[in-house]
Amino acid sequence: MADKYEQVLELAKRRGFIWNSFELYGGTAGFYDYGPLGAMLKRRVENIWRDIFVINEGYYEIESPTIGIEDVFIASGHVGGFSDPLTECQKCKEAFRADHLVQDVAENPDTLSADELTEIIGKNNIKCPECGGRLGKVYEFNLMFKTSIGPGGKRAGYLRPETAQGMFVDFPRLLKFYRDHLPFGATQIGKAYRNEISPRQGVIRLREFTQAEAEIFIDPRDKTHPKIKEVENIELNLYSQEGQSTGEMQKMSLGDAVKNGIIAHEFLAYCLAMTSRFLIRVGVSPEKLRFRQHMKDEMAHYAADCWDAEILSDRFGWVEVVGIADRTDYDLKAHAKQSEKELSVYVSYDVPKKIERFIVKPDMGILGPKFKGKAGKIANALKALKAGELSGDVIELEIDGEQIKIEKDAVKFESITEEVHGENIIPHVIEPSFGIDRIMYSLLEHSYFEEEAGKEDVIEEEKGEGTEAEEVEEKRIVLRLPPEVAPVQAAVLPLLSREELIKPGNEIVAKLRKAGILVAFDDSGTIGRRYRRNDEIGTPYSITVDYQTLEDSTVTIRDRDTMKQVRAGMSDIADSIYDLVYGGKSFEDAGKRI
Ligand code: ATP
Ligand code: GLY
Repeated sequence: MADKYEQVLELAKRRGFIWNSFELYGGTAGFYDYGPLGAMLKRRVENIWRDIFVINEGYYEIESPTIGIEDVFIASGHVGGFSDPLTECQKCKEAFRADHLVQDVAENPDTLSADELTEIIGKNNIKCPECGGRLGKVYEFNLMFKTSIGPGGKRAGYLRPETAQGMFVDFPRLLKFYRDHLPFGATQIGKAYRNEISPRQGVIRLREFTQAEAEIFIDPRDKTHPKIKEVENIELNLYSQEGQSTGEMQKMSLGDAVKNGIIAHEFLAYCLAMTSRFLIRVGVSPEKLRFRQHMKDEMAHYAADCWDAEILSDRFGWVEVVGIADRTDYDLKAHAKQSEKELSVYVSYDVPKKIERFIVKPDMGILGPKFKGKAGKIANALKALKAGELSGDVIELEIDGEQIKIEKDAVKFESITEEVHGENIIPHVIEPSFGIDRIMYSLLEHSYFEEEAGKEDVIEEEKGEGTEAEEVEEKRIVLRLPPEVAPVQAAVLPLLSREELIKPGNEIVAKLRKAGILVAFDDSGTIGRRYRRNDEIGTPYSITVDYQTLEDSTVTIRDRDTMKQVRAGMSDIADSIYDLVYGGKSFEDAGKRI
């Protein structure tokens, strides 16, 4: 029997959600197309992400190139270290992730070097999983797609492996946009590219995928969040470092998790809350969602704390769909070094601080005549000295490789008290990084149900209208997508394909379109079959035009999930559907308008 993954993909392909790219030429692993319904579903998911992060949090969206210049990825560490260990079968030439092949015989294989992996493969006589051939020496394979910019191939470029770097590189401009004030955030939704070695997990591991990322720049001295009160009682499934060592997941409020030091600080906790809200709103089942903390040896070297939102899938188990990290000042420091520009923010103190400062005053009257052209350099070197370096009668300096002795009387020094109003700091970055494609697959899987429809409902719908009850299939596939993400939000179905019913049907379609509702019109086949067709693409509401419509201008609205029907007025049908989809109105209320 097909597992859930196969069932979902069968439906996704057949009904136009997702299919393999380049099918015409046999397809290539790691690339998928979104068809008409999939692309619409994806836009809706992305727009809900925008609603949360851009509109409600105020983190404006930017759009930077998907190709980056080499400096960017040298600074980010991707040129040097964004790689996976690869081994190739000497017989069939198939490539494999070496760390995946040794999983059963080595602990923490992702921490092993290429040489260690080669040794383990040899010692354990591990062979090619495809053909049993001998595996070659393991080497680090960089996952970035390399290209060249301009003719001649002299200037290297890379397809970006994450959208994040665009926000870091734009930091000075963003800082000005936000009027030099922390905290602020920028977001980006766009394609990222990773030349994954062996993407055998279908839609979960792609070579081209969409990320939605927020980079939130905060003052490192204050990681509290102004809105923590709004989320501190939210309980999440937390799989902390300690929990993982005992295999125990805990349901805990975010407030308690911060208080108990499980989540490093409020800002991260707030991001976990936003992430959970988003995932549940787009259709992920709350009981199949957990937040797993990175173990110490798993955490990126720059990260202070990191949590992955993981979603339970039938075939793949727990899959990471979002990474939420405190990236500290790592990225800004790295780009400051590479670009030789200062990337910092001046922050004012609430109350000026008094600080003791030690100042050195070189006596140019003595140094000038004695050292002539070198006097300036010597004076600067003297000014940089600290109190402890000025003891003794003679000060020794090295200027341009030459040892120089300065008599103490050529220098005066004193301690002064100064009032300081602020300082330059390098912000820390909190980053929630969402993989939209994995979320798309998860919500399709979580909303996919095969069930007995209950013949009664459909027969009743058709009663007295002369259609054949026997033609109705009792089993149905239904995608219980939240109405606001469903690609088609309403279907208009004249009970019979007759001109007198089609005409009011078309009027309803026009009204709904005007209200921004994506609507499908379907008058072919039995009404039961049409309901089924819409159930399996997740259309939340079907509007049926029947003979009563001609008498009293009412129609039926059928609810996809319960298959119940209410009668509603035709004149304000657009408001009724809009309220159901976006206004959180109950289905029963839609019938109360008439
Ligand atoms: P994994 O360990 O599964 O490869 P990762 O830790 O490399 O993932 P991140 O670098 O944290 O992933 O990327 C952020 C998000 O981007 C992930 O949570 C995931 O949803 C998504 N993502 C990363 N790689 C891929 C991929 N190859 N295909 C689809 N989505 C991906
Ligand atoms: N920006 C986080 C990641 O893609 O790894």
